[in-house]
Amino acid sequence: MKKILALLLALTMVLTLAACGQKPAEAPAAGGDAGVPKIGVTIYKFDDNFMSFVRRAIETGGKDKAELILNDSQNNQATQNEQVDMMISKGVKSLAINLVDPQAAPSIIEKARGANLPVVFFNKEPDAAALASYDHTWYVGTTSSESGVMQGKIVADSWKANPDWDKNGDGKIQYVLLKGEPGHPDAEARTKYVIEEIKKSGIEVEELELQTGMWDSVKGKELVDAWLAKHGDKIEYIIANNDAMALGAVSSLKANGYFENGKFMPVVGVDAIPDALEQIKGGLMVGTVLNDAKNQGQATLDLALNVANGKDPLEGTKWTLDDKKAVRVPYVGITLDNLAIAEEAYK
Ligand code: GAL
Ligand code: CA
Repeated sequence: MKKILALLLALTMVLTLAACGQKPAEAPAAGGDAGVPKIGVTIYKFDDNFMSFVRRAIETGGKDKAELILNDSQNNQATQNEQVDMMISKGVKSLAINLVDPQAAPSIIEKARGANLPVVFFNKEPDAAALASYDHTWYVGTTSSESGVMQGKIVADSWKANPDWDKNGDGKIQYVLLKGEPGHPDAEARTKYVIEEIKKSGIEVEELELQTGMWDSVKGKELVDAWLAKHGDKIEYIIANNDAMALGAVSSLKANGYFENGKFMPVVGVDAIPDALEQIKGGLMVGTVLNDAKNQGQATLDLALNVANGKDPLEGTKWTLDDKKAVRVPYVGITLDNLAIAEEAYK
């Protein structure tokens, strides 16, 4: 049953992507009623595994409450800027923006200010100064460093529990790291804090490779292909800033004879998307960190809807704002022991 559901979801995503290829990037969500406010939403690119779940949560939350104008910014900030202009001209009552370039917040804020519109950024955190520069702006996301710390704990615990993973017996972890988009607060913090946390637990490390796979599965696989060709079994751990790249690593490892005849390589990711949970169940990934797509999508919609209706952003919600005007949804470290928590969050 689960397999069938997963297949259906995959098929829907393929069909959606195919449909997007033929139409202009902007397409109003179905079922928009005259009585509900228009909300303009951008996703930095639809072709991002994790963001497709955030998008789904926004759409679910907005059903019958808002007319969502959803845009695929196709990983192009200029495209996104035009989409924002277009949505303003269509009379949206608020904006929910997943930036392409985290540094582009000021230009979006200027557009919103010019039209006297509230704007909720999500997933790519703008600088604190940008958030502070306009009263009617907020952020929904996470505390990025938390995911690195939790991933580091998983690496350290699993390493200590499996002495044979130290293939060259030098007591250090020879690791390779697949980094997300450079300059992205999540990528920078995960890269820094995962290693800090491993060291804090008393384990020495040696970095064999660190490169960006841009959150992308195919790029992750290509990098690991090259690294295996260069270092082979000198690599003792593969750390990925997200699950899509970790999944790329797993498929590279499989193609290189790992996970059979006693050949093994530990891999960790972040997000806890369903495909990664399957790999953890199968013993091909050690763990991941739940990046709660459902609650981040829901919080984004809740805030954008409230401000579109002229209400306080938090009215009637369970969220709280920190001193940067951010809602921060907690991460959860995920291994085989607590997979159910992650499964629930991606239902
Ligand atoms: C991160 C997530 C990545 C990617 C990125 C896009 O939070 O872990 O998989 O989706 O956001 O900004
Ligand atoms: Ca070693």
